[in-house]
Amino acid sequence: MKFENKEINLKDGRKAILRNPLISDAEQLIKHLQITCGETDFLTHYPEEYDAMTVEGEEKWVKSSVDSPNVLNICCEIDGYITGTCHIRFGDKIKTRHRASVGISIEKLYWDLGIGSAMFTELITAAKARGTEIMELEFVEGNSRARHLYEKFGFSVVSEKPNAFKLKDGTYLREFYMQKHLRY
Ligand SMILES: CC(C)(COP(=O)(O)OP(=O)(O)OC[C@H]1O[C@@H](n2cnc3c(N)ncnc32)[C@H](O)[C@@H]1OP(=O)(O)O)[C@@H](O)C(=O)NCCC(=O)NCCS
Repeated sequence: MKFENKEINLKDGRKAILRNPLISDAEQLIKHLQITCGETDFLTHYPEEYDAMTVEGEEKWVKSSVDSPNVLNICCEIDGYITGTCHIRFGDKIKTRHRASVGISIEKLYWDLGIGSAMFTELITAAKARGTEIMELEFVEGNSRARHLYEKFGFSVVSEKPNAFKLKDGTYLREFYMQKHLRY
């Protein structure tokens, strides 16, 4: 899905651009996945699980995501560098098209600047434009920054999955499932 570029003001006075990922971003997007997955245990992958990704494969993914009617990908660029990405995936089956799932990852150096909030504002706008009834997401225990962001935007925990993540050191983490009900 297409997204019209939007300039945002960050909490530290810098400006950033929210925009669709471009085919020319492919290499940076792979690095972004590896960086963010190495910075916390809050995402589903370890960085090396992206080692097999190729620039060509990522280019195809970018093209198909912009062409898809059911997924909107937005990245945040600061001075030519991709600092974060987010997406909303709309259900496209009769029984699930009232729902949409969202995901977000921002590199640590750029946390707490308001990028997550700006992205969530856009994801909610997109969901409303689509007529989505329920937005949904998951986060793992300990991710208090993410939980704060999601609750600020009206998401509530509705269930939890024990032992959802098992880290390399054997630690199990619970996953929380949240929903936001959109009212029209
Ligand atoms: C979670 C994440 C998306 C937040 O994005 P962000 O750009 O830092 O978010 P913002 O700057 O818009 O907002 C952060 C908020 O968290 C608050 N915050 C900071 N540290 C916090 C903490 N330890 N506990 C609770 N809240 C915290 C900030 O004060 C701010 O609140 P405010 O908007 O009410 O002032 C980002 O940190 C991230 O990508 N983390 C790593 C990957 C990840 O966890 N992805 C989500 C997986 S579910």
